[in-house]
Amino acid sequence: MIDMLQDSYGRSINYLRLAVTDRCNLRCTYCMPKEGLDWLPRKELMTYNEMLRLCSFLVKLGIEKIRITGGEPFIRKDLFPFLKELSQIKGLKELTVTTNGVLTAPFVPKLKQIGIDSVNLSLDTLDNDRFIQIAHRDELDKVLNTLDMLLLHNMEVKINTVVMENMNIRDIIPLVHLTKTLPIGIRFIEQMPFNGGNRLNSLTWNYKRILEHIQQVFPSITKIPDAPHSTSFNYHIPGHKGDVGIIAAYSRLFCGSCNRIRITPLGVLKTCLYDNGKLNIKDALRKGVSDEEAGMLISDAILKKAKNGWEAEKKRDNQEPVHESMATIGG
Ligand code: 5AD
Ligand code: SF4
Repeated sequence: MIDMLQDSYGRSINYLRLAVTDRCNLRCTYCMPKEGLDWLPRKELMTYNEMLRLCSFLVKLGIEKIRITGGEPFIRKDLFPFLKELSQIKGLKELTVTTNGVLTAPFVPKLKQIGIDSVNLSLDTLDNDRFIQIAHRDELDKVLNTLDMLLLHNMEVKINTVVMENMNIRDIIPLVHLTKTLPIGIRFIEQMPFNGGNRLNSLTWNYKRILEHIQQVFPSITKIPDAPHSTSFNYHIPGHKGDVGIIAAYSRLFCGSCNRIRITPLGVLKTCLYDNGKLNIKDALRKGVSDEEAGMLISDAILKKAKNGWEAEKKRDNQEPVHESMATIGG
């Protein structure tokens, strides 16, 4: 394997997060406005064939893990046949999906069949009224049904919970309680400014405060080792089947070991979540570049990857604070 995807700080990139659509059937308040976004025209999205071609040559250059994100990936027509083809790329070691769980349950057995055995599920509350308040849709039952299906099929499940002042603080403990009987990882995420609007977001619940809040109820919670390139600080409560993670997504404490790039639904390469992406790889492919040329464009862009999320934010052209939606970046 040629290690083509190295940045100037010696970090090897082997993980691609690929967003297949910006559209979503929920309207989570931390991600997009109630009225939704101005959805991208479908012809501007990368086609499945373009994404398959891109992923195949990126795997040859060193990508080993691909996570499919959105928007909500299962909103895009014919996602499953695409996943099946992706899963057959030789050299790809891990294929995973992040989903909101509304449409996912019926696909779980098929995902398992094609070797996808780990899914990240977004779930910010176990309370129906608060779900509606946060996601502006009445879909909690379907999400919980997906969780049941995932567990029934022995999938590795990670739940993503964005921690929001005045919204779901009282959900933190009930969600941690799930780890007592369920073999899941629940990860609490610092809220980031990617909400598709200009609403200011001062971070009141940082990773420390989240941990202290959990420690008050579970004083025996202990730190466990973090996997290499993990974005979460991980913990275990003695006697529990699952684990608890905290992701300092706003504080950006994990950039030193970053191994990831993102491709947005438009085909823009983002070498950091907080940069504004300069290379549109879809446009390059449509202009007729060869795989080799496209690989060179990507490895050049990776060489310019910012040292960390703070530097990336400073280098943005417009100098405005970030406010894109996570759905147009890829979660
Ligand atoms: N802050 C933190 N996490 C976010 N996500 C989306 N928007 C934000 C934000 N503003 C994450 C959520 C969701 C996943 C798709 O992306 O965890 O589960
Ligand atoms: Fe949809 Fe995920 Fe954004 Fe919620 S966070 S609106 S589920 S894309």
